[in-house]
Amino acid sequence: MTTIKLIVGSTRPVRVGGQLVDGVVSTLSEATGASVEVVDLRELDLPFLAEPQQAASGVYTLDSTKQWAQIVKDSDAIVWLTPEYNGGFPAPVKNAIDHLLAEWDAKPTLVVGYGWGGASRAVKHLVEILGNVKTNVVADAICMPFGDNPPAEGQVANPLAIVEANKEALVAGAKALVEAIESDEEAAA
Ligand SMILES: Cc1cc2nc3c(=O)[nH]c(=O)nc-3n(C[C@H](O)[C@H](O)[C@H](O)COP(=O)(O)O)c2cc1C
Repeated sequence: MTTIKLIVGSTRPVRVGGQLVDGVVSTLSEATGASVEVVDLRELDLPFLAEPQQAASGVYTLDSTKQWAQIVKDSDAIVWLTPEYNGGFPAPVKNAIDHLLAEWDAKPTLVVGYGWGGASRAVKHLVEILGNVKTNVVADAICMPFGDNPPAEGQVANPLAIVEANKEALVAGAKALVEAIESDEEAAA
């Protein structure tokens, strides 16, 4: 079965990102028929890059790096769910990217941001970095503004409404992921 991994980029103990996951997972899985698995960078808890060799060597010594590499290898496509912090995407997202290299190559990828302004600056930067490691970013990044659902003390009253308001773009992005996966499979056959 096709497997899409949704990477949750916020690692804060109280966070909006976690509240959006259910809505994003159900939208992606309905649109694709794929198994959508959540990879929470907070749970993965990668150390700040501590490998003696660059990821370009493909030599991974730490179990945490090996586990992360396997997670990415075992995916047919990746969706990044990212907030915006001080005009960029969170440091743990960059750290997770920097841990690997070959695993990113041509990986069908979609970027989804959320926040007051939809994380428009964060997603732009993230798409640029993902291009640098040669992922296949299949569609324009999706920005999900909080709109009528701003967080109060870290809680959003209706997180599903934020996802629903962006459903069309999410479905189009999800379909673009499936097309990229199918075209990779045809090329490999
Ligand atoms: C360190 C930090 C920096 C932030 N900077 C921005 C920003 O540049 N632009 C923005 O729209 N929101 C910014 N915010 C507000 C976040 O969009 C909002 O807190 C959101 O809930 C963060 O996602 P999370 O709760 O899943 O971590 C910032 C929040 C934090 C914690």
